Amino acid sequence: MMIDSHAHLELRDFDSDREDVIKRARDAGVDAIVTIGIDLDDCRKAVEIAGNHDEVYAAVGIHPHEVKEINRQTYDRMRELAVMPKVVAYGEIGLDFFKNHSPRDVQLRRFGEQLELADDLNLPVIIHDREAHKETINLLSGWKGARRGVIHCFSGDYAMARKCLDLGFYISIPGTVTFPKAEILRDVVRRVPAESLLVETDAPFLTPAPHRGKRNESAYVKYTAMKVAEIKEMPFEKLAEITARNACELFKIEM
Ligand code: NI
Repeated sequence: MMIDSHAHLELRDFDSDREDVIKRARDAGVDAIVTIGIDLDDCRKAVEIAGNHDEVYAAVGIHPHEVKEINRQTYDRMRELAVMPKVVAYGEIGLDFFKNHSPRDVQLRRFGEQLELADDLNLPVIIHDREAHKETINLLSGWKGARRGVIHCFSGDYAMARKCLDLGFYISIPGTVTFPKAEILRDVVRRVPAESLLVETDAPFLTPAPHRGKRNESAYVKYTAMKVAEIKEMPFEKLAEITARNACELFKIEM
């Protein structure tokens, strides 16, 4: 068993060969892919792709880059999408203080609102945190959501990971773990129990070695899982299975 817990199959990058990408993932042993919408239109597309493919599930939410576009109708539309079949999570939501495509105060407010919405919808959350560790932990600490969630594309150190685990969150490891400079991330992988880890591609971004520099796709989650298994000195099949079970548990996917 193997699951790509975070991809963006709805992005235009996959318009010309989406079916092939999904097929290659299946051939590589990927049993499920969670595809993540980042704005209203992409969320609609994500739900549609999930509806057309047994192994694809969807998450809906407004990405921190896009939260400046939220208006009075947005959350009503998100509520409609969130109850569609195969929507398994709310996200990705959070804070990106690296790119700052939306003003920070807007990001903070919209993150708080979307956490409440997710709880209202009884969905787990997928968290995007880039260079906003302290603020992310602050908001998650005050959040009452029962379904908890995952810190996607984890970029903190072990101390940060420990706080996330204590708050009941999973840590998701991206392809960057294969990069030579990713020593801090490898330390996190070493010290966090496999029972708290997920693996992801974030395709089309963050392509792992040996395909670094090319477009990423869900089939390549195996390189990330292989690296994580190697770091944890665990057979690949076992690591893939444990992380897949974690994803099934979090997203309530039955396999
Ligand atoms: Ni993403």
